[in-house]
Amino acid sequence: MSTRIRIEGGVPLSGTVPISGAKNAVLPILMASLLTERPCRLKNVPHLKDVTTSIELLAQMGAEVGLADQWTIELDTSRVAHHEAPYELVKTMRASVLVLGPLLARFGAARVSLPGGCAIGARPVDQHMRGLAALGADVRIESGYIVAEADRLTGARIVLDTATVTGTENIMMAAVLAEGTSVIENAAQEPEVADLARCLNDMGADVEGAGTNTIVIRGVPELGGYDYRVLADRIEAGTFLVAAAMTGGKVHAKGADPRTLDAVLQKLEQAGARIDSGADWIELDMAGRRPKAVDVTTAPYPGFPTDMQAQFTALNAIAEGTGVVRETVFENRFMHVQELQRLGADMRVDGNMVVIRGKDSLTGAPMMATDLRASASLVLAGLVAEGATLIDRVYHIDRGYENIEEKLGQLGARIRRVTEKAA
Ligand code: EPZ
Repeated sequence: MSTRIRIEGGVPLSGTVPISGAKNAVLPILMASLLTERPCRLKNVPHLKDVTTSIELLAQMGAEVGLADQWTIELDTSRVAHHEAPYELVKTMRASVLVLGPLLARFGAARVSLPGGCAIGARPVDQHMRGLAALGADVRIESGYIVAEADRLTGARIVLDTATVTGTENIMMAAVLAEGTSVIENAAQEPEVADLARCLNDMGADVEGAGTNTIVIRGVPELGGYDYRVLADRIEAGTFLVAAAMTGGKVHAKGADPRTLDAVLQKLEQAGARIDSGADWIELDMAGRRPKAVDVTTAPYPGFPTDMQAQFTALNAIAEGTGVVRETVFENRFMHVQELQRLGADMRVDGNMVVIRGKDSLTGAPMMATDLRASASLVLAGLVAEGATLIDRVYHIDRGYENIEEKLGQLGARIRRVTEKAA
């Protein structure tokens, strides 16, 4: 049985779409429950494969995890006895590496499978390991696992070579229980890093400067639990706004925080969209116009997010003019290009950039999803392509988008999930 998504393109999207909690904030905050033996509760949690995987991983360690309601998770890690993240789980979700810092801080020991590469790139974790070693841990690799041990972590000043998001989060979660003060320079500034820091401070940590490139953490002897509501997913919001811009529609993203999407909203306005926003909503009105092509270069936050690159590649495919998209964060994040070419898109990869000549129409065809954000761009292209588009391997989409076909359907899209007997 293979599950696919089928789309009949051509409908301008309109209406209100509720934005779910941010996957990339939920994952580190779930792992932060390992830092305390007190009960924790996390609200506004989206139904995503990666969330289920994180729960399985924590339960395997001995944590008790339950659903208080369908968007609220309760955790109790007081009886965690295994300090290991096995390869079978880590290979399905590299964010499992985020248990490293908390396990080390609370138990003084951690054994986490090396995540290995993934579709979009090598995804090394050298910065994670270097930062934990700076805090006094003995960190080594043994038969494909990261093995870390420390009697006591002590505060240190760490200058990251790259502004790694999960690297910053792992080091921050280790430092909160270290003896003394730590400083992380060249830290990742993503809003999800700041959300994790807010949650850690609710637990009694002392973290300052998260969201900037310098984070100061004063270690405390122990932490309480958390009762925390995670921020809205800026990438999900951005994806629906691009869908509205591509289909010439008008969409209200409810719950989205415009301050986390400055670079994306600026590009959408350059493409000819009218944007209005408030503290917790963003509205895009394309008024039936065809988007104008825009040039995009991805960069660490607050630059243009790499997780929105594939979506803008799709927008440029049907825009007026030629757009150039440069990917500077990951080395292989253009797999959606050859899939979009199947719909007739005129785009050519040249090193770390893709030159896209907008066409006034695309034709629906079968495509195959390859990674989370690339698969979203295939859905977006299907929304404007003439005729039927069929997307295979939709499990990639389900990792990061909660009920995407329901949400798009409520905006008028002709989209449904079809399960067919394997050919
Ligand atoms: C986070 O991944 C996100 N995942 C990714 O989202 C996102 O694309 C990425 O940040 C960039 O914004 C989560 O937060 C769970 P990185 P992360 O470490 O932290 C290099 C999605 O679609 N690097 O910031 O793993 C690395 O090679 C996912 O939701 C090192 O060199 O990404 C890459 O070039 C995909 N050494 C760059 O940093 C290290 O030790 C960014 O990687 C770590 C990273």
